[in-house]
Amino acid sequence: SAAPTVTPSGSGVFARTRARITARTLRTDRWWLPPLLTTLGLAAFVGYATVRSFVRTAYWVPEYHYLTPFYSPCVSASCVPGSSHFGVWVGELPMWIPLGFVVLPFLLGFRLTCYYYRKAYYRSVWLSPPACAVAEPHTSYSGETRLPLIIQNTHRYFFYFALVVTLVNSYDAITAFHGASGGFGFGLGNLVLLINVTLLWGYTLSCHSCRHIVGGRLKNFSAHPVRYWYWTQISKLNTRHMALAWTTLGTLALTDFYVMLVASDTISDLRFID
Ligand code: FES
Repeated sequence: SAAPTVTPSGSGVFARTRARITARTLRTDRWWLPPLLTTLGLAAFVGYATVRSFVRTAYWVPEYHYLTPFYSPCVSASCVPGSSHFGVWVGELPMWIPLGFVVLPFLLGFRLTCYYYRKAYYRSVWLSPPACAVAEPHTSYSGETRLPLIIQNTHRYFFYFALVVTLVNSYDAITAFHGASGGFGFGLGNLVLLINVTLLWGYTLSCHSCRHIVGGRLKNFSAHPVRYWYWTQISKLNTRHMALAWTTLGTLALTDFYVMLVASDTISDLRFID
């Protein structure tokens, strides 16, 4: 391992008052596997999403009104005709600005500051610490009390933006019930978009900030039965937050991939109605 067995400052588990064990860990199991898998999973999504956000191809299916979430809402003159559900707000964009520029920073901010993703990348990418009973390579620890990590406190505000983005995605999923000859249509793409947006609602509403907004800061629940009921429901959802964080990364990529395949005529959409 690249990590030092004894830190220069003798801090953390190597401090003078701790047991004199020079090994970084006494664990003999594969403790490095979860952080490794987490890093690979996050890197795969970031790589895929970055490429797809910049390519500007195969993001809209004109016959069925399928729009990939990575390009929604598409509000510039560079967007292909029909894909701007919420109007055109700005002119042509240079290639280095993704067409989904309006929401991508907020989505990135929401996920980066998410309580679950923090745990995930602190342990994996940042190795702080990589696993229980495995010393971390860093010599000092200031938690989230200073820049830049104090910015993690903005998560509650990103939550409100995320609500709006999920509403936009819901609108996209509804307008996608569009037939090739106009009017109502229903295909496999609709199922893909619907499943994705349902899980996105699950991820957004299971947010720890959402749980606090709904039921936090109350002195007693008995005086607030409605908020208590919502808080109870959100709390149940909240226990699945990690699973939803990963599932929605998967469904976002798969939804985009499906729209790409149909939009590029690589496959044709399986149609149930029109
Ligand atoms: Fe994960 Fe809010 S805690 S989205």
